[in-house]
Amino acid sequence: MFAVSELRVLIPRDKIAQRVAEMGAEITRDFQGESIIFVGVLKGAAIFLSDLARKVTLDATFDFIGVSSYGRSSNNQELKGGWDSTGEVRLTKDVDNAMVKRNVILVEDILDTGLTLTYLQRVILAHQPKTLKIAALLDKPSRRKKPIKADYVGFTIPDEFVVGYGLDHAERYRNLPDICVLPSGE
Ligand code: IMP
Ligand code: MG
Repeated sequence: MFAVSELRVLIPRDKIAQRVAEMGAEITRDFQGESIIFVGVLKGAAIFLSDLARKVTLDATFDFIGVSSYGRSSNNQELKGGWDSTGEVRLTKDVDNAMVKRNVILVEDILDTGLTLTYLQRVILAHQPKTLKIAALLDKPSRRKKPIKADYVGFTIPDEFVVGYGLDHAERYRNLPDICVLPSGE
């Protein structure tokens, strides 16, 4: 366990706020005159969704979807031996709202290997939405295993394990206002 003072700030809160406001403005422009449904991926996207949604001046609904990843330990690191290539991601909570013919924005904290969002894209598309876009606060393209891109990306970051602003390590640090790098070796 690390003390908060041991964490190095990678993206400070004011930079996050500025970028989230830009993303909200972009979504507002892209969907002018339309309604949208934000679908947040539990639990990491909760803080990002609540800030982003307040920067979008459109008619909007909130929803949440839950997943658990095989091959990833409780501290979010990949387990030795890699991913289970057959059933790597499992749904733990489906959406509550009907998505058919709606504009859906899937909101995720970080796009890493891409396995989670590739799976969720398929789940949402089965609901036959009008449009499906992905908003990811962070992107670690160097770790990608599936060819997926987000439509809205906050920050592209190097291959470091980050916490704060919703992101956790073994369920801790989600409430840090800044995005910080966790020292390796815990
Ligand atoms: P993917 O399926 O590898 O793209 O995994 C995305 C999920 O892994 C995210 O929703 C996070 O829960 C977790 N994750 C990946 N990288 C990090 C990180 O640096 N910090 C915290 N969680 C991470
Ligand atoms: Mg997550």
